[in-house]
Amino acid sequence: MSAPLLSDLRSPPVVGRFYMVPVIRDFYWHGIKHDWPVLGPMHTDVDHFNFPYPHYHVDIRFLTKALMRRVASKWGYASVADDLVARAASVATCYPLMKVMFPLPAHAPLPLGRPPLARKFCSTSVVPFTLQDRKPFPALRAAYPDPAPAIRRMDGRLLCPHRKVDLSTFAPDAAGVVTCPVHGLRVQCGIAVA
Ligand code: FES
Repeated sequence: MSAPLLSDLRSPPVVGRFYMVPVIRDFYWHGIKHDWPVLGPMHTDVDHFNFPYPHYHVDIRFLTKALMRRVASKWGYASVADDLVARAASVATCYPLMKVMFPLPAHAPLPLGRPPLARKFCSTSVVPFTLQDRKPFPALRAAYPDPAPAIRRMDGRLLCPHRKVDLSTFAPDAAGVVTCPVHGLRVQCGIAVA
C-alpha cells in the first residue's frame, strides 16, 4: 500500500498515518536490529564537536512507542517519560561508539549512499531536543545567529543551515522558530504570530 513521501510534506506528519521515510535497513542500534528511520544526511561532527564518526540521527517520529521503550530501557532508564525516550533516541546511530557500548550482536558499518525508503507509522510529530539542557551546542551558538535563518529551497523546503536537515515537517513555535532536533540550533522557519 502506498503512503505519502515524507520529503513531499511542508507541514508536520499526521500522527496515526503511514509515510515513506528514509531508513537504515537491518541495522543494530542499541543492540536492536531494525529498519531505523533517520533524519537528515549521514555526517560527522568534527568541525563543531570533535566527533569524527559518520552517523545518522534517528527520526523518533517513526518509531513505535514500544520500540522507544525498548531503546530507553537499553540506557537503563526507569522512566519512559517522553523526553527521556527522545533523549535516548536522539543519540547518533554511530558504528564505532555503539560497537563499544553494545558489543553483541556484531555491528555492521553504516551503508553508504542515499537511504532506501520504507513505509513507517507516525507515532508522534514532535522531536524535542533534550541534550545540552535544551540549548544548542556551544560551538553552534558561537557560529550562528539566534535564531539562524533557514535555507529556503526552490521546492519550498526549509533546511537547517548546519547540516541541511529538512525542518519543513516540524511545527514552528509562536515566534516562527523550529528548534532543530539534531543539534538544537534555533532556526527561523516562519513568521512570528502576534
Ligand atoms: S543539523 Fe545540526 S543543528 Fe540542525
